[in-house]
Amino acid sequence: MKGFVKIFTYGCQMNDLDTQKLYSELFKRGYARTEETTKADIIILNTCSVRQKAQEKAFSNLGRLKLLKRRTPSLIIAVVGCVAQQEGTALIERMPHVDIVLGTHQLHRLSDILGEVRQHKAHFVDTMYGSCIPSIDIVPEKSFMEPPHRAYINIMQGCNNYCSYCIVPYVRGREISRNHTSILDEVRLHAARGVKEIFLLGQNVNSYAGGVTFPALLKEVHTIEGIERIRFTTSHPKDVNPEFIGCFATLAKICSHIHLPFQAGSDTVLKAMNRDYTKKGYLELIHDLSEARADIVFSADVMVGFPGETQGDFEQTLDLMQAVRFDVLYSFKYSPRPKTFAAGIEDGVTPEEKRSRLHILQTLQNTISLENNQARVGRVYDVLVDGTSPRQEDQVYGRTTHNTIVNFIGSTSLIGTTIRVRVLRANKNSLTGELLRP
Ligand code: SAH
Ligand code: SF4
Ligand code: F3S
Repeated sequence: MKGFVKIFTYGCQMNDLDTQKLYSELFKRGYARTEETTKADIIILNTCSVRQKAQEKAFSNLGRLKLLKRRTPSLIIAVVGCVAQQEGTALIERMPHVDIVLGTHQLHRLSDILGEVRQHKAHFVDTMYGSCIPSIDIVPEKSFMEPPHRAYINIMQGCNNYCSYCIVPYVRGREISRNHTSILDEVRLHAARGVKEIFLLGQNVNSYAGGVTFPALLKEVHTIEGIERIRFTTSHPKDVNPEFIGCFATLAKICSHIHLPFQAGSDTVLKAMNRDYTKKGYLELIHDLSEARADIVFSADVMVGFPGETQGDFEQTLDLMQAVRFDVLYSFKYSPRPKTFAAGIEDGVTPEEKRSRLHILQTLQNTISLENNQARVGRVYDVLVDGTSPRQEDQVYGRTTHNTIVNFIGSTSLIGTTIRVRVLRANKNSLTGELLRP
């Protein structure tokens, strides 16, 4: 055994998947995973820089690791992901206890580099962009998949949209789509391993262009036997077209849920954000998707306090929320990010206004989420069981097609199977149910 590895993961599902891939690659090279920081020979921070706060988390963790490194000089600290891409060598200048900085196109090199750095004790930095991203084709080992019956699969990486607030195009690079044959090979491999759910990932999945369009890819994935459920994220409203909407009508394995970030309800703000749709256009998409799949539910991302957002603009956001009634809404205070266009606009909304708007928005959303869940009490759903409940040992939990979490009393032998559950109680973020015997 070459040593113990601990990976801290921040940010999006793309990073969670990259972490699964890193553990798998390092495992193949003779490293073992550990959860204990003090036991680790190698500590990797897989970082996110989408908001100021996310970036600070990585830096404060790195600050804490300085002491550990002083006590154990053989410890290797690697920073990968979006903060690594953004900072490059500056990161090592600021924090010399960091050994390796590896950008978002260079992840596949980590296991080789670790060996070299451990031997020669030199710093290593590589944040080059390539015309392809080799790590996109790495398939995680089943033992590192969480849960093992759900496979997250990269179909594209990067973004060409340049929303004016967003750092992602600068830290993940331009859109690169993975070839559809490679994706389908991976889906078949997972199906043969007993995987039940495929979760396709990309910064903007519905602009996928890896030899076929995204709807065509969905049709291909749909034909693969053994796969029961298909999910994907993130979809961009500007790329939702009739063919894509039609998939919800014709492909039964696609789950009745779509994550469709809207960011703001005011057309003035949407324009300043460079989002390329209006509130009316967004609501039309919601209508058309609901026509295609009667029970579809929606989740989204939204932010408050974009530069220049007035009280009237903010009320348009609340109005849109009431019209759509999202199940889940991820809401953020705008924070300026380096290199982005919006960082150069005067941030007219005070911190106090941002805080108060976020509070109002989240209070409204909590009511909607609870009401949506209350309407489910008494109904019966197919639930794919994911694991044991963290707080109650005799309980397991799983997800409905709507992506709603359901907790119920049941045996761990149910994990990875789809069973029927009747809903007994509703909470804001989950349901409590009872298992129905087949
Ligand atoms: N590709 C996805 C999401 C990318 S980032 C999309 O297009 O929607 C995830 C979320 O972070 C975004 O949807 C947005 O709501 C939020 N976000 C991005 N940049 C931000 C910033 N500068 N300040 C606050 N929130 C931000
Ligand atoms: Fe960022 Fe916009 Fe691209 Fe999403 S679509 S990753 S918000 S630039
Ligand atoms: Fe964060 Fe990078 Fe994902 S900035 S949201 S980890 S693409």
